[in-house]
Amino acid sequence: MHGIISDVSTERIGIAQMMERLRGGEVRALARAVSIVEDGGAAAVELLVACRASGAGALRVGVTGPPGAGKSTLVDQMARLLTAEGQKVGVVAIDPSSPYTGGALLGDRIRMQGALRTSEGDAGLFIRSMASRGAMGGLTRAAADVCTVMEAAGRQTILIETVGVGQDEVDVIGLADVTVLVLVPGMGDEVQSLKAGVMEVADIFVVNKADRGGAELVEQEIVAMQGLGGGGSGWTAPVVRTAASTGDGVGELIETVRRCAEVKKLEPRVRDGRVQTGGLRLDHLGVAVKSIAAARGFYEALGMVVSHEETVEHEQVKTAMLPLGESRIELLEATQEDSTIGRFLAKRGEGLHHVAVHVDRVDAMFARLIAQGVRLTSDAVRVGAGGHRYFFVHPASTGGVLLEIVGE
Ligand code: CO
Repeated sequence: MHGIISDVSTERIGIAQMMERLRGGEVRALARAVSIVEDGGAAAVELLVACRASGAGALRVGVTGPPGAGKSTLVDQMARLLTAEGQKVGVVAIDPSSPYTGGALLGDRIRMQGALRTSEGDAGLFIRSMASRGAMGGLTRAAADVCTVMEAAGRQTILIETVGVGQDEVDVIGLADVTVLVLVPGMGDEVQSLKAGVMEVADIFVVNKADRGGAELVEQEIVAMQGLGGGGSGWTAPVVRTAASTGDGVGELIETVRRCAEVKKLEPRVRDGRVQTGGLRLDHLGVAVKSIAAARGFYEALGMVVSHEETVEHEQVKTAMLPLGESRIELLEATQEDSTIGRFLAKRGEGLHHVAVHVDRVDAMFARLIAQGVRLTSDAVRVGAGGHRYFFVHPASTGGVLLEIVGE
């Protein structure tokens, strides 16, 4: 009995120390922690609980495609660019056909890691190879655990690379926030024969080795295949051309990955049993009035109270906020006749000027609506009353209502 208690307490201290070393960015601790979770058992469970509790997250990018598409070189180039930005990057290389784990694929990858270490002066890149775990579904679970540990160790981007496009690999790619499907010119037949499942998980198509010529043909095949699919989400998978051997197009690919991640964060999704819709709710109704002093009396008679008054100089408008449950009424008075509200009053008279919807991620919503061709009246996200960030959607896109999108 005594022995068990002391064992448990020793292990607890071990986990706490391990977490501290992980948070400190120690590469040797990261390698050790990855081995612990791969080995499984009680220590693995406890370590994973601690890693999850750290709340750290990374952008997970899946890179998949048929063998010979140049995925490893592409992943190396992406890692190179990201570490050059100062990011800490993790690579999980998946090869279900290999019976070996923990370094099965490394070979020349080790040399690359060494080169990066010396040129960057620190271990900006951590690569882990994972092979078949033997058990069904075991590979995805194991890869998920390795990602969790890498996140707790402060890796900001994790590149999950698969050797092929088998079912195991497609399952693993499900761990990624953004999935890149890599093809090369001359693969027309392969595109045709790719399983629909692989085409569906792709957020971005890469035509690698585009310097060889024939890229147009593969692109046409991809677009033709896309036409068959349903779509319907806020993101249509674009095609990016790269030449991984020279690094051409890799910067554009990373930018596209980031844009996609922002857009996808806004997709409603179920996490922990709750539907998340990006914080969408009615924020306020904007009412244009000739005089706030004259108009507020009615609202105060209703029992509402002005919580905040502010003049927003660049909009030439005076505002008064009256909380109304979770929403507010925003009274708007022009400080100049030749202003947005001044012109509205002259043309339409007093009345409802705009409806404001709250979102958690204003910049992401801005990017998403532009990507979907929605007409905006703002050319950028601006800062308004109360320090809130906002932009406006043109009534032509909303069914006749000027819509403000607002967030923190
Ligand atoms: Co407003």
